[in-house]
Amino acid sequence: MSVVRINAIEVPPERAAELERRFEQRAGEVEDQEGFLGFELLRPSDGRTTYLVYTRWRSEDDFRRWVASDAFQRGHATHAREGPVAPHSELWAFEVAQESPRAQ
Ligand code: HEM
Repeated sequence: MSVVRINAIEVPPERAAELERRFEQRAGEVEDQEGFLGFELLRPSDGRTTYLVYTRWRSEDDFRRWVASDAFQRGHATHAREGPVAPHSELWAFEVAQESPRAQ
C-alpha cells in the first residue's frame, strides 16, 4: 500500500495569497520523481488557517529519496531565496490502510 506525506503549513490569512503564488510558480519536478503518485495543495475552507500539501508515494523510501534530492531543493527555491511564507509547518505521515476502488 502506498504512503501519504503531508506538509501542514500554518498560514496567516494575509500570507495565503503569497503561499498560493509560490505554488503556482513551483518547479514541477516532483512529478518526475520515482514512486511519486500525486500531489494536492489543499486550501482550508472552514475557517482554519492550515494549508495541507498532500503528497502520495509508492513507498517511504521513494519519499525519502525525493526529500534528499536536488529536485526537492529546486522545488523549494523560493522558500530558500525569500524565506518561509509562514512561521510554522509540520510533517504528517500516514499509511493508506484502506481505500475505495475509485480512489486514486
Ligand atoms: C519547512 C518545511 C516546508 C515548507 C515551509 C514548505 C513550503 C513550500 C512552498 C512555499 C513551496 C512552493 C515553492 C517554493 O516556495 O519554492 C513548496 C513546494 C513544494 N512542497 Fe514544500 N515545504 C516544506 C517541506 C515540504 C515537505 C516535507 C513536503 C512533502 C510532504 C513538501 C511538499 C512540496 C511539494 C510537492 C512542492 C512542489 C515541488 C515541485 O513542484 O517540484 N514540502 N513547499
